[in-house]
Amino acid sequence: MELKRIIDRVYWLLDRRRTLVTLSAYGGDSVYGEKIFNLDGKIYREWVPYRSKFAAAFYKGLNGVDIKDGYKVLYLGASSGTTVSHVSDIIGVNGQVYAVEIAEEMAVNLILLAERRKNIFPIVGDARKPENYPSIPKCDFLYQDVAQRDQTDIFIKNADLFLKSGKIGAFAVKTRSINVSLDPREVIRNEVKKLRSKFDVIREINIYPYQKDHSLLILRKK
Ligand SMILES: C[S@@+](CC[C@H](N)C(=O)[O-])C[C@H]1O[C@@H](n2cnc3c(N)ncnc32)[C@H](O)[C@@H]1O
Repeated sequence: MELKRIIDRVYWLLDRRRTLVTLSAYGGDSVYGEKIFNLDGKIYREWVPYRSKFAAAFYKGLNGVDIKDGYKVLYLGASSGTTVSHVSDIIGVNGQVYAVEIAEEMAVNLILLAERRKNIFPIVGDARKPENYPSIPKCDFLYQDVAQRDQTDIFIKNADLFLKSGKIGAFAVKTRSINVSLDPREVIRNEVKKLRSKFDVIREINIYPYQKDHSLLILRKK
């Protein structure tokens, strides 16, 4: 088996098919049932595109993005920590991921995960009210996956407060959460219009068939 690097600590594992993996920063535990590979004494975790929109974007052609070792990340809509665990691998033990989740039942697993992965800082709270977060620093990367009607406003508000200028935000837009009756391409166009004054749009990646009705927008804060 051969590894092909995409970004720091994210690789294609090339065998008969290609499998996306992250180099584990915290040993060989499987977080959500993903496969673990031990290669040349290093541990890699499968990053499953049906479970993570960020992973799906790599399968749909994303071949680089500015997130790396030591980065501080603000993650909105952390759920039980599936994608957060891979972000935790990418930024490594010197990075920090502040993971916001509103649903207490989801946050329980996130808190347990953070006990094993010391670079995860769970925040049980509402991403609509970033002014209420405990004190967090300005971040190098913002990731959002909240599937709410006002998701674009949530993204802009958090980026205003916590994303450094010139840094990247990755935003999973669920078109059906915004408007079920409008053509999804029209929904994306409308949301992008709202974002243009504050962000450069780097890419829009439709992540079908891994996730229905979703695009991942890659934005750079002006
Ligand atoms: C699609 S799931 C996220 C999946 C997760 N990002 C992953 O890939 O592992 C959306 C999550 O956003 C959370 N959420 C919704 N509205 C929120 C809000 N206003 N603040 C924080 N979390 C929110 C939901 O409770 C849910 O757990």
